[in-house]
Amino acid sequence: MGSRRVFSGIQPTADSFHLGNYLGAVRQWVDLQETRDAIYCVVDLHAITVPYDPAALRRRTRVAAAQLIAAGLDPERCILFVQSQAPEHAELNWVLGCITGFGEANRMTQFKDKSARGGADQASVGLFTYPVLQAADILLYQADEVPVGEDQRQHLELSRTLAQRFNHRFGETFTVPAPYILPTVAKITDLQDPASKMSKSSSSPQGIIDLLDEPDAIRRKINRAVTDAESVVRADEVAKPGVTNLLRIYSALSGQKIEEISAAYGDSGYGKFKKDLGELVVGTFAPIRERTAKILGDPAALDAVLLDGGRRAREIAGGTMAVVRDRCGLPPAA
Ligand code: AMP
Ligand code: TRP
Repeated sequence: MGSRRVFSGIQPTADSFHLGNYLGAVRQWVDLQETRDAIYCVVDLHAITVPYDPAALRRRTRVAAAQLIAAGLDPERCILFVQSQAPEHAELNWVLGCITGFGEANRMTQFKDKSARGGADQASVGLFTYPVLQAADILLYQADEVPVGEDQRQHLELSRTLAQRFNHRFGETFTVPAPYILPTVAKITDLQDPASKMSKSSSSPQGIIDLLDEPDAIRRKINRAVTDAESVVRADEVAKPGVTNLLRIYSALSGQKIEEISAAYGDSGYGKFKKDLGELVVGTFAPIRERTAKILGDPAALDAVLLDGGRRAREIAGGTMAVVRDRCGLPPAA
C-alpha cells in the first residue's frame, strides 16, 4: 500500500543502450525509484522473438543490467530482475493470449514494422504475441504507471484493454496501468535522419549515440549531426527538425529551458552549440560507462543481485498468478 507502483522493461538486444533509451526511459526509471514502488526488468524473453545468438543474449542481459545500475538504479530502492527468471511472465502471457483477438494483435504497428523488415513470412509467432507478453509483465505487478518512450503507447493501450477485459470477464483482478511518457524526451530522433526515431535496428552508427560509446565518438557524432542551412539555434519542428532534436537533448541534460538555450546561442552558428552539447553528453555518459565496466568486472556479484531481484519479483508475481488461476478456473500450481 502507500506509494504508487511503476513497472517497466527494456530489451537486451544490443551491446549498449542509446541516447533515446536513456532520455526516453532509463532516466525516468532512476527518478521514479525515489517516489514510487519501482520494479524494472531486463526483458530477455522479448529479445528472443527475433533470431539471436545465445552467447550474445547472455552477454547482453548482463550488460543491460550493469548499465541500468551504472545509470543510477539502486537494487536497494527498486526491484531489478531478468524477466525469464520469473516464469510467471510466460504463464500469464498464455492466459492473456487466450483473451486477445487475432485481429487485435495484428493491428500492432511495431509488429508490422518488425515483421516487414525480415520478410513477413519469416516472423515468429513469438514476435506476433510480443505485446501480450508485455501486458503480462505489467499486469503481474499491478503497476499503476509504466515509464516508456512514445513508441510504446500502442502496446500500453493493449495492456489496458486486456486488463479491463480480464476484469470484466473474470472479476476485478488487475490494476489498469497508465502510460508515463514525458513529451519532451518521448522521441529522440536519429542524428543523421531527424525524421526517424533513434533506433538500434534502423539508425546508422553515425545517427545513434550509444551510452557506452567512447567520448571522442560521441563528440564526433554530434559535430556531424544533420542541421540546416540557417545558422540560428532555435526550435522549429517542421523547418529545423535536426536542431530541434539537439535542443531537446541539450535541455534534458542541462535542465535549461529550450528558450533559454536558443537565447544564449542565438545566431552565432552551430559550432559552439554542438561542441557544448558534445561535452554535456560525454559528461553524463562517461561516468556511466566507467561504472558499467566496473560492474561487469564481477559477473558473479551482478548475477547475485539479479537473482535476488528475481526472487522478490516472484513473490509479487506468484501472488497475482494464484488469484488469476482461481478466477480462470485453473487449479493451484502443483
Ligand atoms: P527498446 O530498446 O525497444 O527495448 O526500448 C527501451 C525503451 O526506450 C522504451 O521505453 C522505448 O520507448 C524507449 N525508446 C527507444 N527509442 C527511443 C527514442 N528514440 N526516443 C525516446 N525513447 C526511446
Ligand atoms: N516493448 C518494450 C520496448 O521495446 C519493452 C518492454 C517489455 C516493456 N515489457 C515491458 C516496457 C513492460 C514497459 C513495460 O521498449
